Amino acid sequence: MAKLAVIGGSGFTRLDSLVVVRREVVRTPFGPPSAPITHGVFEEREIAFLPRHGSGHTIPPHKVNYRANLYALKQLGAEIIVGMAAVGGITAPMRPGRLVCPDQIIDYTWGRASTFYESDLSEVVHVDFTEPYCPMLRQALLDAAAEADVDMHDGGTYAAMQGPRLESAAEIDRLERDGCDLVGMTGMPEAALARELDICYAHCAIVVNHAAGRGDGPITMDDIRRCLDIGMARAREVLARLDV
Ligand code: HPA
Repeated sequence: MAKLAVIGGSGFTRLDSLVVVRREVVRTPFGPPSAPITHGVFEEREIAFLPRHGSGHTIPPHKVNYRANLYALKQLGAEIIVGMAAVGGITAPMRPGRLVCPDQIIDYTWGRASTFYESDLSEVVHVDFTEPYCPMLRQALLDAAAEADVDMHDGGTYAAMQGPRLESAAEIDRLERDGCDLVGMTGMPEAALARELDICYAHCAIVVNHAAGRGDGPITMDDIRRCLDIGMARAREVLARLDV
């Protein structure tokens, strides 16, 4: 199995130009992952692919079985995971269509199963999360973007919100006061669970809209879809050059 896995987010239920070798149904002690794992070859390298929201994009962010997804990929040998994520842009550099490789995260989600260290413990475990993303993979993503001539912003704080609704303008103001640059719904507990499993994890975020109150008028799904298509094409260029 490939040591590199990609978790696809909204608009990324499949990876174009991935040559599928096989699909594997994986069982975990935490229940089923979002979909069978696709093993394939992408730009001459083996990768595993898992659509976070299911093959038909039917699982909302608060219902994703994050533990099963991470555990399944670990069980299959994944050592490095790129988490694709569509996000709203809060601060000025986070323009729609732009790619971002965040370096910090704040968790505002609630009620999600967010740790593997919960029962049958011989002792309480606290993993270090000072740097929530794997520095090696972050640098590799930034290098791949530079090589692909794709504009990828280096750094920023990702706010993980509960969803599935979008935020109010006041909530976005609060997130900005907290120091957040980007807002999404799936970054946690995914990043923390990857750390608990000692997997090198980073986000490749695609800004698909101005966050609530930061653009002109309401956020429409049409606008999001348009940016998503552009961003996904750019993200694919980056993944194609990822040297890890
Ligand atoms: N807020 C939260 N999650 C999102 C957004 C947003 O504006 N855009 C894409 N995912």
